[in-house]
Amino acid sequence: MSDIEEIKNRLDIVSIVGEYVPDLKRAGQSFKAPCPFHKEKTPSFIVTPSIQLFKCFGCGEGGDVIKFIQKIERVEFGEALQIAASKAGYELKNQSSGNKAFKEQSKRVLEMNNLACSFWEFILHKHNAGKPGRDYATKRKLAEPQLKLFRIGYAPKGNNLLKFLLSKGFNQNELLTNGLVVERNGQIIDKFRDRLMLPILNAKGDVLGFSGRIVTPNEYAPKYLNSPETAVYKKGEILMGLHQAIPAMREHKFVILEEGNIDLLSSHRVKVGNILATGGTALTLEQCKLIKRYVDIVYFCFDSDNAGLNALIKGIGLAEQAGLKHKALDIGQHQDPDALISADPQSWERIIAQPINSVELVMKRIEKEYDLGTPDGKSDLFARMIPVLQSLKDKVQLAHFAEELAVKVGVQVDDVHSAIKAGATRPPLRTKASESTTVSVNVAPHFNNKEIYLLSLLLQVPNLKDLDISQEVFSDPACKDILVQMQKTSDFATISANISDAGREALQQALALDVLSIEDPKAEAARVYRMLYTTSIRKEILNLRQALHENPDNEELLAKLQYYSKELRL
Ligand code: UTP
Ligand code: MN
Repeated sequence: MSDIEEIKNRLDIVSIVGEYVPDLKRAGQSFKAPCPFHKEKTPSFIVTPSIQLFKCFGCGEGGDVIKFIQKIERVEFGEALQIAASKAGYELKNQSSGNKAFKEQSKRVLEMNNLACSFWEFILHKHNAGKPGRDYATKRKLAEPQLKLFRIGYAPKGNNLLKFLLSKGFNQNELLTNGLVVERNGQIIDKFRDRLMLPILNAKGDVLGFSGRIVTPNEYAPKYLNSPETAVYKKGEILMGLHQAIPAMREHKFVILEEGNIDLLSSHRVKVGNILATGGTALTLEQCKLIKRYVDIVYFCFDSDNAGLNALIKGIGLAEQAGLKHKALDIGQHQDPDALISADPQSWERIIAQPINSVELVMKRIEKEYDLGTPDGKSDLFARMIPVLQSLKDKVQLAHFAEELAVKVGVQVDDVHSAIKAGATRPPLRTKASESTTVSVNVAPHFNNKEIYLLSLLLQVPNLKDLDISQEVFSDPACKDILVQMQKTSDFATISANISDAGREALQQALALDVLSIEDPKAEAARVYRMLYTTSIRKEILNLRQALHENPDNEELLAKLQYYSKELRL
Protein backbone atom coordinates (compact mmCIF):
# COMPACT_ATOMS: atom_id res chain seq x y z
CA MET A 1 0.00 0.00 0.00
CA SER A 2 1.29 3.48 -0.81
CA ASP A 3 2.05 6.07 1.88
CA ILE A 4 -0.97 8.03 0.76
CA GLU A 5 -3.38 5.13 1.10
CA GLU A 6 -1.82 4.08 4.40
CA ILE A 7 -2.29 7.57 5.80
CA LYS A 8 -5.84 7.90 4.49
CA ASN A 9 -6.77 4.57 6.02
CA ARG A 10 -5.65 5.75 9.42
CA LEU A 11 -7.55 9.03 9.35
CA ASP A 12 -11.25 9.71 9.67
CA ILE A 13 -12.29 12.63 7.52
CA VAL A 14 -15.04 13.66 9.95
CA SER A 15 -12.67 14.19 12.85
CA ILE A 16 -10.01 15.90 10.73
CA VAL A 17 -12.54 18.33 9.25
CA GLY A 18 -13.99 18.77 12.74
CA GLU A 19 -10.63 20.09 13.95
CA TYR A 20 -10.90 22.99 11.54
CA VAL A 21 -14.68 23.36 11.31
CA PRO A 22 -16.10 23.22 14.83
CA ASP A 23 -19.67 23.78 13.56
CA LEU A 24 -19.75 20.40 11.83
CA LYS A 25 -23.05 18.77 12.76
CA ARG A 26 -24.61 15.45 11.96
CA ALA A 27 -27.20 15.49 9.17
CA GLY A 28 -28.56 12.10 8.20
CA GLN A 29 -25.67 9.80 7.35
CA SER A 30 -23.40 12.79 6.82
CA PHE A 31 -22.11 15.88 8.59
CA LYS A 32 -22.77 19.41 7.58
CA ALA A 33 -21.48 22.95 8.20
CA PRO A 34 -21.18 26.34 6.58
CA CYS A 35 -18.44 25.96 3.99
CA PRO A 36 -14.97 26.98 5.19
CA PHE A 37 -13.98 27.79 1.60
CA HIS A 38 -16.60 30.39 0.72
CA LYS A 39 -19.01 32.72 2.46
CA GLU A 40 -22.48 31.35 3.06
CA LYS A 41 -25.31 31.41 5.56
CA THR A 42 -27.01 28.09 4.97
CA PRO A 43 -24.60 25.17 5.21
CA SER A 44 -23.89 23.38 1.96
CA PHE A 45 -20.60 21.81 3.00
CA ILE A 46 -21.04 18.09 3.53
CA VAL A 47 -18.71 15.44 4.88
CA THR A 48 -19.72 11.82 4.31
CA PRO A 49 -17.92 9.25 6.46
CA SER A 50 -19.13 6.17 4.59
CA ILE A 51 -17.24 7.31 1.49
CA GLN A 52 -14.63 9.48 3.26
CA LEU A 53 -15.21 12.53 1.07
CA PHE A 54 -16.14 16.17 1.57
CA LYS A 55 -18.07 18.32 -0.86
CA CYS A 56 -19.41 21.86 -0.89
CA PHE A 57 -22.52 22.15 -3.00
CA GLY A 58 -22.15 25.92 -2.99
CA CYS A 59 -18.65 26.43 -4.34
CA GLY A 60 -17.95 22.99 -5.75
CA GLU A 61 -14.88 22.30 -3.67
CA GLY A 62 -14.55 18.63 -2.75
CA GLY A 63 -12.30 15.62 -2.37
CA ASP A 64 -10.62 13.37 0.15
CA VAL A 65 -9.00 14.14 3.48
CA ILE A 66 -5.63 15.12 1.96
CA LYS A 67 -7.34 17.51 -0.44
CA PHE A 68 -9.17 19.03 2.51
CA ILE A 69 -5.94 19.65 4.41
CA GLN A 70 -4.37 21.07 1.27
CA LYS A 71 -7.20 23.58 0.84
CA ILE A 72 -7.69 24.56 4.45
CA GLU A 73 -3.98 24.92 5.21
CA ARG A 74 -3.34 26.45 1.77
CA VAL A 75 -0.40 24.16 1.09
CA GLU A 76 0.83 22.00 -1.76
CA PHE A 77 0.00 18.31 -1.86
CA GLY A 78 3.33 17.23 -0.40
CA GLU A 79 3.01 19.40 2.65
CA ALA A 80 -0.61 18.34 3.14
CA LEU A 81 0.54 14.74 3.06
CA GLN A 82 3.14 15.55 5.70
CA ILE A 83 0.52 17.18 7.92
CA ALA A 84 -1.82 14.24 7.39
CA ALA A 85 1.00 11.81 8.22
CA SER A 86 1.71 13.50 11.53
CA LYS A 87 -2.00 13.54 12.41
CA ALA A 88 -2.11 9.81 11.63
CA GLY A 89 1.02 9.12 13.65
CA TYR A 90 2.58 7.70 10.51
CA GLU A 91 6.18 8.07 9.55
CA LEU A 92 6.69 8.69 5.84
CA LYS A 93 9.02 6.02 4.47
CA ASN A 94 11.13 8.64 2.81
CA GLN A 95 12.78 10.51 5.67
CA SER A 96 13.12 13.72 3.69
CA SER A 97 10.11 15.99 3.44
CA GLY A 98 6.82 14.73 2.00
CA ASN A 99 7.26 17.39 -0.65
CA LYS A 100 10.43 15.87 -1.98
CA ALA A 101 8.98 12.37 -1.97
CA PHE A 102 6.00 13.70 -3.83
CA LYS A 103 8.11 15.44 -6.46
CA GLU A 104 10.14 12.32 -7.07
CA GLN A 105 7.04 10.20 -7.35
CA SER A 106 5.45 12.68 -9.76
CA LYS A 107 8.50 12.76 -11.96
CA ARG A 108 8.52 9.01 -12.25
CA VAL A 109 4.81 8.88 -13.03
CA LEU A 110 5.23 11.49 -15.78
CA GLU A 111 8.10 9.49 -17.27
CA MET A 112 6.03 6.33 -17.19
CA ASN A 113 3.05 8.07 -18.80
CA ASN A 114 5.17 9.66 -21.48
CA LEU A 115 6.62 6.28 -22.40
CA ALA A 116 3.18 4.69 -22.47
CA CYS A 117 1.93 7.51 -24.68
CA SER A 118 4.78 7.12 -27.17
CA PHE A 119 4.34 3.36 -27.14
CA TRP A 120 0.66 3.60 -28.06
CA GLU A 121 1.37 6.30 -30.67
CA PHE A 122 3.92 4.01 -32.27
CA ILE A 123 1.40 1.18 -32.41
CA LEU A 124 -1.28 3.39 -33.97
CA HIS A 125 0.92 4.85 -36.65
CA LYS A 126 3.52 2.18 -37.34
CA HIS A 127 2.64 -1.30 -36.09
CA ASN A 128 0.52 -4.08 -37.60
CA ALA A 129 -1.32 -4.39 -34.32
CA GLY A 130 -2.49 -0.80 -34.81
CA LYS A 131 -4.79 -1.62 -37.72
CA PRO A 132 -8.07 -1.61 -35.72
CA GLY A 133 -7.06 1.79 -34.34
CA ARG A 134 -6.27 3.19 -37.77
CA ASP A 135 -9.54 1.87 -39.20
CA TYR A 136 -11.44 3.38 -36.33
CA ALA A 137 -9.70 6.74 -36.70
CA THR A 138 -10.67 6.76 -40.37
CA LYS A 139 -14.25 5.88 -39.53
CA ARG A 140 -14.42 8.78 -37.08
CA LYS A 141 -12.83 11.13 -39.66
CA LEU A 142 -9.88 11.75 -37.38
CA ALA A 143 -7.09 13.17 -39.51
CA GLU A 144 -3.33 12.70 -39.19
CA PRO A 145 -2.43 16.27 -38.07
CA GLN A 146 -4.93 16.14 -35.18
CA LEU A 147 -3.93 12.58 -34.21
CA LYS A 148 -0.35 13.84 -33.92
CA LEU A 149 -1.26 17.11 -32.20
CA PHE A 150 -3.21 15.24 -29.52
CA ARG A 151 -0.69 12.40 -29.31
CA ILE A 152 -3.43 9.85 -29.93
CA GLY A 153 -2.41 6.22 -29.82
CA TYR A 154 -3.91 2.75 -29.93
CA ALA A 155 -3.77 0.20 -27.13
CA PRO A 156 -4.12 -3.25 -28.70
CA LYS A 157 -5.48 -6.35 -27.00
CA GLY A 158 -3.09 -8.27 -24.76
CA ASN A 159 -0.54 -7.20 -22.17
CA ASN A 160 1.77 -5.24 -24.41
CA LEU A 161 2.14 -2.14 -22.28
CA LEU A 162 2.81 -4.18 -19.14
CA LYS A 163 5.69 -6.03 -20.83
CA PHE A 164 7.05 -2.83 -22.34
CA LEU A 165 7.09 -0.83 -19.10
CA LEU A 166 8.53 -3.72 -17.06
CA SER A 167 11.34 -3.88 -19.61
CA LYS A 168 11.93 -0.17 -19.03
CA GLY A 169 12.53 -0.72 -15.31
CA PHE A 170 9.15 0.14 -13.82
CA ASN A 171 7.70 -2.28 -11.29
CA GLN A 172 4.22 -3.76 -11.09
CA ASN A 173 3.23 -1.75 -8.05
CA GLU A 174 4.01 1.53 -9.72
CA LEU A 175 2.03 0.50 -12.77
CA LEU A 176 -0.90 -0.51 -10.58
CA THR A 177 -0.91 2.73 -8.59
CA ASN A 178 -0.79 4.73 -11.79
CA GLY A 179 -3.69 2.73 -13.21
CA LEU A 180 -1.98 1.55 -16.38
CA VAL A 181 -2.49 -2.07 -15.39
CA VAL A 182 -5.11 -3.75 -13.21
CA GLU A 183 -5.44 -6.96 -11.28
CA ARG A 184 -7.94 -9.55 -12.56
CA ASN A 185 -8.28 -12.86 -10.74
CA GLY A 186 -4.78 -12.60 -9.33
CA GLN A 187 -3.26 -11.70 -12.70
CA ILE A 188 -1.79 -8.31 -13.59
CA ILE A 189 -3.00 -7.23 -17.01
CA ASP A 190 -3.11 -4.12 -19.23
CA LYS A 191 -6.01 -1.92 -18.23
CA PHE A 192 -6.50 -0.38 -21.67
CA ARG A 193 -7.20 -2.89 -24.43
CA ASP A 194 -8.52 -2.28 -27.90
CA ARG A 195 -8.88 1.41 -27.15
CA LEU A 196 -8.01 4.63 -28.91
CA MET A 197 -5.81 6.35 -26.34
CA LEU A 198 -6.07 10.06 -25.68
CA PRO A 199 -3.48 11.40 -23.26
CA ILE A 200 -4.64 13.86 -20.61
CA LEU A 201 -2.12 16.70 -20.72
CA ASN A 202 -1.51 19.73 -18.55
CA ALA A 203 -0.86 23.17 -20.07
CA LYS A 204 2.82 22.33 -20.58
CA GLY A 205 2.05 19.07 -22.32
CA ASP A 206 3.08 16.66 -19.54
CA VAL A 207 1.12 13.41 -19.76
CA LEU A 208 -0.92 13.20 -16.55
CA GLY A 209 -3.09 10.24 -17.48
CA PHE A 210 -5.23 8.75 -20.23
CA SER A 211 -8.74 8.47 -21.53
CA GLY A 212 -9.28 5.44 -23.73
CA ARG A 213 -12.20 5.01 -26.13
CA ILE A 214 -13.30 1.49 -26.95
CA VAL A 215 -12.78 0.64 -30.61
CA THR A 216 -14.91 -2.51 -30.86
CA PRO A 217 -17.78 -1.85 -28.49
CA ASN A 218 -19.15 -4.65 -26.38
CA GLU A 219 -21.79 -4.80 -23.75
CA TYR A 220 -19.37 -5.26 -20.85
CA ALA A 221 -16.84 -2.57 -21.68
CA PRO A 222 -17.53 1.06 -20.79
CA LYS A 223 -17.22 3.42 -23.77
CA TYR A 224 -14.40 5.34 -22.14
CA LEU A 225 -11.96 4.12 -19.51
CA ASN A 226 -10.00 6.81 -17.69
CA SER A 227 -6.91 6.89 -15.51
CA PRO A 228 -7.63 7.03 -11.79
CA GLU A 229 -6.61 10.08 -9.80
CA THR A 230 -2.91 9.88 -9.04
CA ALA A 231 -0.12 12.00 -7.61
CA VAL A 232 -0.13 14.04 -10.83
CA TYR A 233 -3.69 13.73 -12.10
CA LYS A 234 -6.63 15.35 -10.32
CA LYS A 235 -9.82 15.20 -12.33
CA GLY A 236 -11.39 18.50 -11.36
CA GLU A 237 -8.20 20.42 -12.00
CA ILE A 238 -7.48 19.75 -15.64
CA LEU A 239 -9.33 20.32 -18.90
CA MET A 240 -8.96 18.13 -21.94
CA GLY A 241 -7.42 19.94 -24.89
CA LEU A 242 -5.86 22.74 -22.82
CA HIS A 243 -2.35 22.24 -24.13
CA GLN A 244 -3.58 22.33 -27.72
CA ALA A 245 -5.98 25.26 -27.21
CA ILE A 246 -3.51 27.80 -25.84
CA PRO A 247 -2.50 29.48 -29.14
CA ALA A 248 -6.09 29.79 -30.38
CA MET A 249 -7.30 31.04 -26.98
CA ARG A 250 -4.71 33.83 -27.13
CA GLU A 251 -5.86 34.72 -30.63
CA HIS A 252 -9.63 34.62 -30.13
CA LYS A 253 -9.94 35.71 -26.48
CA PHE A 254 -12.72 33.23 -25.81
CA VAL A 255 -12.94 29.47 -25.50
CA ILE A 256 -15.60 26.87 -26.17
CA LEU A 257 -16.23 24.42 -23.35
CA GLU A 258 -17.91 21.14 -24.24
CA GLU A 259 -18.08 17.61 -22.89
CA GLY A 260 -16.50 15.11 -25.26
CA ASN A 261 -12.98 14.09 -26.17
CA ILE A 262 -13.38 13.30 -29.86
CA ASP A 263 -15.13 16.64 -30.39
CA LEU A 264 -11.83 18.37 -29.65
CA LEU A 265 -10.14 16.71 -32.60
CA SER A 266 -13.07 17.30 -34.94
CA SER A 267 -13.14 20.97 -34.04
CA HIS A 268 -9.39 21.36 -34.60
CA ARG A 269 -9.87 19.62 -37.95
CA VAL A 270 -12.14 22.45 -39.11
CA LYS A 271 -9.67 25.03 -37.75
CA VAL A 272 -11.45 25.89 -34.51
CA GLY A 273 -8.75 25.36 -31.91
CA ASN A 274 -10.06 27.40 -28.97
CA ILE A 275 -11.97 24.50 -27.46
CA LEU A 276 -11.75 22.55 -24.21
CA ALA A 277 -13.59 19.51 -22.86
CA THR A 278 -14.67 18.56 -19.37
CA GLY A 279 -14.28 14.89 -20.28
CA GLY A 280 -17.81 14.20 -19.12
CA THR A 281 -17.20 15.03 -15.46
CA ALA A 282 -18.86 17.80 -13.49
CA LEU A 283 -17.25 21.20 -14.01
CA THR A 284 -15.41 22.65 -11.00
CA LEU A 285 -14.55 26.15 -9.85
CA GLU A 286 -10.89 25.29 -10.23
CA GLN A 287 -11.40 24.54 -13.91
CA CYS A 288 -13.17 27.88 -14.40
CA LYS A 289 -10.28 29.65 -12.73
CA LEU A 290 -7.92 27.78 -15.01
CA ILE A 291 -9.87 29.03 -18.04
CA LYS A 292 -9.78 32.57 -16.64
CA ARG A 293 -5.98 32.48 -16.85
CA TYR A 294 -6.25 32.43 -20.64
CA VAL A 295 -9.53 34.10 -21.64
CA ASP A 296 -12.36 36.20 -20.19
CA ILE A 297 -15.24 34.55 -22.00
CA VAL A 298 -16.39 30.94 -22.13
CA TYR A 299 -18.97 29.56 -24.56
CA PHE A 300 -20.74 26.58 -23.05
CA CYS A 301 -21.67 23.86 -25.49
CA PHE A 302 -23.26 21.02 -23.55
CA ASP A 303 -25.60 18.22 -24.63
CA SER A 304 -29.21 19.15 -25.17
CA ASP A 305 -30.40 16.48 -22.71
CA ASN A 306 -31.23 16.93 -19.05
CA ALA A 307 -27.68 16.24 -17.89
CA GLY A 308 -26.42 18.86 -20.33
CA LEU A 309 -28.94 21.36 -19.01
CA ASN A 310 -27.79 20.73 -15.44
CA ALA A 311 -24.18 21.12 -16.56
CA LEU A 312 -25.06 24.45 -18.16
CA ILE A 313 -26.80 25.68 -15.01
CA LYS A 314 -23.87 24.64 -12.88
CA GLY A 315 -21.45 26.16 -15.37
CA ILE A 316 -23.19 29.53 -15.19
CA GLY A 317 -22.86 29.62 -11.40
CA LEU A 318 -19.20 28.64 -11.47
CA ALA A 319 -18.29 31.03 -14.30
CA GLU A 320 -19.95 33.86 -12.38
CA GLN A 321 -17.92 32.93 -9.29
CA ALA A 322 -14.69 32.80 -11.27
CA GLY A 323 -15.42 36.15 -12.93
CA LEU A 324 -15.75 34.60 -16.38
CA LYS A 325 -18.25 35.97 -18.88
CA HIS A 326 -20.34 33.19 -20.33
CA LYS A 327 -22.39 32.53 -23.42
CA ALA A 328 -23.82 29.36 -24.90
CA LEU A 329 -23.87 27.61 -28.24
CA ASP A 330 -27.00 25.85 -29.37
CA ILE A 331 -26.23 22.97 -31.71
CA GLY A 332 -29.89 22.12 -32.16
CA GLN A 333 -30.71 18.49 -32.68
CA HIS A 334 -27.08 17.43 -33.10
CA GLN A 335 -25.74 15.24 -30.34
CA ASP A 336 -22.40 16.97 -29.91
CA PRO A 337 -19.97 19.20 -31.86
CA ASP A 338 -18.41 16.12 -33.47
CA ALA A 339 -21.78 15.00 -34.86
CA LEU A 340 -22.50 18.51 -36.10
CA ILE A 341 -19.10 18.87 -37.76
CA SER A 342 -19.43 15.44 -39.33
CA ALA A 343 -22.80 16.37 -40.79
CA ASP A 344 -21.85 19.85 -41.96
CA PRO A 345 -18.26 21.06 -41.44
CA GLN A 346 -19.05 24.69 -42.24
CA SER A 347 -21.86 24.98 -39.74
CA TRP A 348 -19.57 24.88 -36.70
CA GLU A 349 -17.99 28.24 -37.45
CA ARG A 350 -21.41 29.70 -38.19
CA ILE A 351 -22.76 28.58 -34.83
CA ILE A 352 -19.72 29.89 -33.00
CA ALA A 353 -20.25 33.28 -34.63
CA GLN A 354 -23.71 33.42 -33.04
CA PRO A 355 -23.38 32.65 -29.36
CA ILE A 356 -26.52 33.16 -27.32
CA ASN A 357 -27.13 34.33 -23.80
CA SER A 358 -26.62 31.30 -21.53
CA VAL A 359 -29.48 32.17 -19.17
CA GLU A 360 -31.79 32.54 -22.12
CA LEU A 361 -30.85 29.06 -23.28
CA VAL A 362 -31.44 27.62 -19.81
CA MET A 363 -34.87 29.21 -19.68
CA LYS A 364 -35.73 27.94 -23.15
CA ARG A 365 -34.70 24.39 -22.29
CA ILE A 366 -36.44 24.27 -18.91
CA GLU A 367 -39.60 25.65 -20.47
CA LYS A 368 -39.61 22.76 -22.91
CA GLU A 369 -39.63 20.33 -20.01
CA TYR A 370 -42.69 21.67 -18.25
CA ASP A 371 -46.22 22.34 -19.29
CA LEU A 372 -46.59 26.06 -18.62
CA GLY A 373 -50.31 25.70 -19.09
CA THR A 374 -50.49 24.08 -15.67
CA PRO A 375 -49.84 25.52 -12.19
CA ASP A 376 -47.35 22.70 -11.46
CA GLY A 377 -45.41 23.46 -14.61
CA LYS A 378 -45.18 27.12 -13.64
CA SER A 379 -44.01 26.33 -10.11
CA ASP A 380 -41.37 23.98 -11.46
CA LEU A 381 -40.03 26.55 -13.91
CA PHE A 382 -39.97 29.18 -11.16
CA ALA A 383 -38.16 26.88 -8.72
CA ARG A 384 -35.52 25.90 -11.23
CA MET A 385 -34.87 29.40 -12.51
CA ILE A 386 -34.46 31.15 -9.14
CA PRO A 387 -31.04 29.63 -8.33
CA VAL A 388 -29.86 30.44 -11.85
CA LEU A 389 -30.89 34.09 -11.49
CA GLN A 390 -29.41 34.15 -8.01
CA SER A 391 -25.96 33.38 -9.39
CA LEU A 392 -25.97 36.39 -11.77
CA LYS A 393 -23.75 39.28 -10.79
CA ASP A 394 -24.74 41.57 -13.67
CA LYS A 395 -27.68 43.66 -12.41
CA VAL A 396 -28.97 44.46 -15.89
CA GLN A 397 -29.12 40.81 -16.90
CA LEU A 398 -30.71 39.94 -13.58
CA ALA A 399 -33.43 42.57 -13.99
CA HIS A 400 -34.11 41.40 -17.52
CA PHE A 401 -34.54 37.74 -16.67
CA ALA A 402 -36.47 38.40 -13.45
CA GLU A 403 -38.99 40.32 -15.55
CA GLU A 404 -39.16 37.60 -18.16
CA LEU A 405 -39.67 34.88 -15.55
CA ALA A 406 -42.37 36.89 -13.75
CA VAL A 407 -44.37 37.25 -16.96
CA LYS A 408 -43.97 33.56 -17.85
CA VAL A 409 -45.25 32.18 -14.56
CA GLY A 410 -47.67 35.03 -13.84
CA VAL A 411 -46.24 36.56 -10.65
CA GLN A 412 -45.10 40.07 -9.82
CA VAL A 413 -41.48 40.82 -10.58
CA ASP A 414 -41.06 41.72 -6.89
CA ASP A 415 -41.97 38.12 -6.03
CA VAL A 416 -39.10 36.95 -8.19
CA HIS A 417 -36.69 39.32 -6.48
CA SER A 418 -37.79 38.32 -3.00
CA ALA A 419 -37.43 34.65 -3.90
CA ILE A 420 -33.91 35.38 -5.08
CA LYS A 421 -33.13 37.24 -1.86
CA ALA A 422 -34.55 34.51 0.31
CA GLY A 423 -32.45 31.99 -1.55
CA ALA A 424 -35.70 30.15 -1.89
CA THR A 425 -35.34 26.97 -3.76
CA ARG A 426 -38.55 25.21 -2.98
CA PRO A 427 -38.49 22.56 -0.28
CA PRO A 428 -38.54 19.09 -1.75
CA LEU A 429 -42.11 18.59 -0.64
CA ARG A 430 -44.66 20.10 1.67
CA THR A 431 -46.27 17.35 3.66
CA LYS A 432 -47.44 16.96 7.18
CA ALA A 433 -44.71 14.47 7.82
CA SER A 434 -41.86 16.49 6.43
CA GLU A 435 -43.10 19.77 7.88
CA SER A 436 -43.20 18.36 11.35
CA THR A 437 -39.69 17.00 11.08
CA THR A 438 -36.36 18.49 10.17
CA VAL A 439 -36.07 17.45 6.55
CA SER A 440 -33.35 19.66 5.21
CA VAL A 441 -34.31 21.55 2.08
CA ASN A 442 -30.82 22.62 1.29
CA VAL A 443 -30.41 20.59 -1.86
CA ALA A 444 -28.24 22.21 -4.49
CA PRO A 445 -30.35 23.39 -7.40
CA HIS A 446 -28.72 21.32 -10.09
CA PHE A 447 -30.39 18.15 -8.93
CA ASN A 448 -34.09 17.49 -9.03
CA ASN A 449 -35.05 17.92 -5.37
CA LYS A 450 -37.79 15.32 -5.39
CA GLU A 451 -35.51 12.71 -6.89
CA ILE A 452 -32.83 13.36 -4.28
CA TYR A 453 -35.49 13.19 -1.59
CA LEU A 454 -36.76 9.82 -2.78
CA LEU A 455 -33.21 8.47 -2.98
CA SER A 456 -32.56 9.78 0.47
CA LEU A 457 -35.48 7.78 1.85
CA LEU A 458 -34.51 4.65 -0.05
CA LEU A 459 -30.89 4.88 1.07
CA GLN A 460 -31.40 5.66 4.71
CA VAL A 461 -34.63 4.08 5.84
CA PRO A 462 -34.26 0.38 6.49
CA ASN A 463 -36.76 -2.04 4.96
CA LEU A 464 -37.79 0.06 1.99
CA LYS A 465 -36.24 -2.56 -0.26
CA ASP A 466 -39.55 -4.18 -1.17
CA LEU A 467 -40.85 -1.01 -2.80
CA ASP A 468 -40.75 -1.67 -6.50
CA ILE A 469 -39.04 1.45 -7.85
CA SER A 470 -38.81 1.85 -11.60
CA GLN A 471 -35.71 3.55 -12.96
CA GLU A 472 -37.91 5.54 -15.32
CA VAL A 473 -38.97 7.96 -12.62
CA PHE A 474 -35.47 9.36 -12.36
CA SER A 475 -34.91 11.95 -15.05
CA ASP A 476 -31.55 12.85 -13.58
CA PRO A 477 -28.89 10.37 -14.78
CA ALA A 478 -26.92 10.87 -11.58
CA CYS A 479 -29.90 9.69 -9.53
CA LYS A 480 -30.66 6.84 -11.91
CA ASP A 481 -27.04 5.70 -11.55
CA ILE A 482 -27.43 5.43 -7.81
CA LEU A 483 -30.68 3.50 -8.02
CA VAL A 484 -29.09 0.98 -10.39
CA GLN A 485 -26.22 0.42 -7.95
CA MET A 486 -28.57 0.27 -4.96
CA GLN A 487 -30.40 -2.57 -6.60
CA LYS A 488 -27.10 -4.49 -6.46
CA THR A 489 -25.70 -3.59 -3.05
CA SER A 490 -26.45 -1.62 0.07
CA ASP A 491 -22.82 -0.76 0.84
CA PHE A 492 -22.35 2.99 0.36
CA ALA A 493 -18.64 2.71 -0.43
CA THR A 494 -19.33 0.19 -3.20
CA ILE A 495 -22.15 2.31 -4.59
CA SER A 496 -19.88 5.35 -4.52
CA ALA A 497 -17.07 3.52 -6.31
CA ASN A 498 -19.34 2.53 -9.18
CA ILE A 499 -21.01 5.79 -10.13
CA SER A 500 -20.06 8.97 -11.95
CA ASP A 501 -18.85 12.15 -10.25
CA ALA A 502 -22.31 13.62 -10.58
CA GLY A 503 -23.65 10.42 -9.03
CA ARG A 504 -21.34 10.82 -6.06
CA GLU A 505 -22.53 14.39 -5.59
CA ALA A 506 -26.13 13.23 -5.65
CA LEU A 507 -25.26 10.42 -3.23
CA GLN A 508 -23.69 12.85 -0.79
CA GLN A 509 -26.74 15.07 -0.95
CA ALA A 510 -29.13 12.21 -0.46
CA LEU A 511 -27.16 10.93 2.52
CA ALA A 512 -27.10 14.39 4.04
CA LEU A 513 -30.87 14.85 4.12
CA ASP A 514 -32.28 14.11 7.52
CA VAL A 515 -35.16 11.74 6.82
CA LEU A 516 -34.86 9.32 9.68
CA SER A 517 -37.33 11.14 11.88
CA ILE A 518 -40.18 11.01 9.41
CA GLU A 519 -43.21 9.35 10.94
CA ASP A 520 -44.17 6.87 8.25
CA PRO A 521 -41.21 6.76 5.86
CA LYS A 522 -42.63 3.96 3.78
CA ALA A 523 -45.82 5.86 3.04
CA GLU A 524 -43.74 8.96 2.39
CA ALA A 525 -41.51 7.11 -0.09
CA ALA A 526 -44.54 5.67 -1.86
CA ARG A 527 -46.09 9.13 -2.08
CA VAL A 528 -42.96 10.79 -3.50
CA TYR A 529 -42.54 7.91 -5.90
CA ARG A 530 -46.11 8.35 -7.10
CA MET A 531 -45.47 12.06 -7.68
CA LEU A 532 -42.34 11.40 -9.68
CA TYR A 533 -44.11 8.70 -11.61
CA THR A 534 -46.89 11.13 -12.49
CA THR A 535 -44.36 13.71 -13.62
CA SER A 536 -42.59 11.21 -15.83
CA ILE A 537 -45.91 10.22 -17.38
CA ARG A 538 -46.85 13.86 -17.93
CA LYS A 539 -43.60 14.35 -19.76
CA GLU A 540 -44.22 11.24 -21.82
CA ILE A 541 -47.67 12.54 -22.74
CA LEU A 542 -46.21 15.86 -23.87
CA ASN A 543 -43.72 14.02 -26.06
CA LEU A 544 -46.44 11.83 -27.51
CA ARG A 545 -48.66 14.83 -28.29
CA GLN A 546 -45.75 16.44 -30.08
CA ALA A 547 -45.05 13.25 -32.02
CA LEU A 548 -48.73 12.89 -32.92
CA HIS A 549 -48.76 16.44 -34.14
CA GLU A 550 -46.22 15.40 -36.71
CA ASN A 551 -47.70 11.94 -37.30
CA PRO A 552 -51.44 12.27 -36.63
CA ASP A 553 -52.38 8.81 -37.90
CA ASN A 554 -49.85 6.72 -36.04
CA GLU A 555 -51.90 4.11 -34.20
CA GLU A 556 -49.13 3.02 -31.91
CA LEU A 557 -48.62 6.55 -30.65
CA LEU A 558 -52.36 6.96 -30.15
CA ALA A 559 -52.57 3.74 -28.16
CA LYS A 560 -49.67 4.80 -25.99
CA LEU A 561 -51.22 8.19 -25.39
CA GLN A 562 -54.45 6.53 -24.28
CA TYR A 563 -52.58 4.20 -21.96
CA TYR A 564 -50.61 6.99 -20.32
CA SER A 565 -53.62 9.27 -20.03
CA LYS A 566 -55.43 6.49 -18.19
CA GLU A 567 -52.46 5.96 -15.87
CA LEU A 568 -52.57 9.64 -15.01
CA ARG A 569 -56.22 9.55 -13.99
CA LEU A 570 -55.66 6.65 -11.59
P1 UTP B 1 -20.34 10.96 -24.47
O1 UTP B 1 -21.07 9.74 -24.07
O2 UTP B 1 -21.11 12.15 -24.93
O3 UTP B 1 -19.29 10.50 -25.54
O4 UTP B 1 -19.44 11.37 -23.25
P2 UTP B 1 -18.65 11.23 -26.78
O5 UTP B 1 -17.64 12.20 -26.35
O6 UTP B 1 -19.71 11.68 -27.71
O7 UTP B 1 -17.85 10.01 -27.35
P3 UTP B 1 -17.91 9.38 -28.78
O8 UTP B 1 -18.16 10.49 -29.76
O9 UTP B 1 -19.00 8.37 -28.75
O10 UTP B 1 -16.57 8.76 -28.91
C1 UTP B 1 -18.79 12.60 -23.16
C2 UTP B 1 -17.48 12.40 -22.47
O11 UTP B 1 -17.67 11.77 -21.21
C3 UTP B 1 -16.61 10.92 -20.90
C4 UTP B 1 -15.63 11.00 -22.07
O12 UTP B 1 -14.64 11.94 -21.76
C5 UTP B 1 -16.51 11.49 -23.20
O13 UTP B 1 -15.78 12.15 -24.20
N1 UTP B 1 -17.07 9.53 -20.71
C6 UTP B 1 -18.13 9.05 -21.43
C7 UTP B 1 -16.41 8.72 -19.83
O14 UTP B 1 -15.44 9.15 -19.19
N2 UTP B 1 -16.83 7.41 -19.67
C8 UTP B 1 -17.87 6.89 -20.39
O15 UTP B 1 -18.19 5.67 -20.25
C9 UTP B 1 -18.54 7.74 -21.28
MN1 MN C 1 -19.55 12.05 -29.75
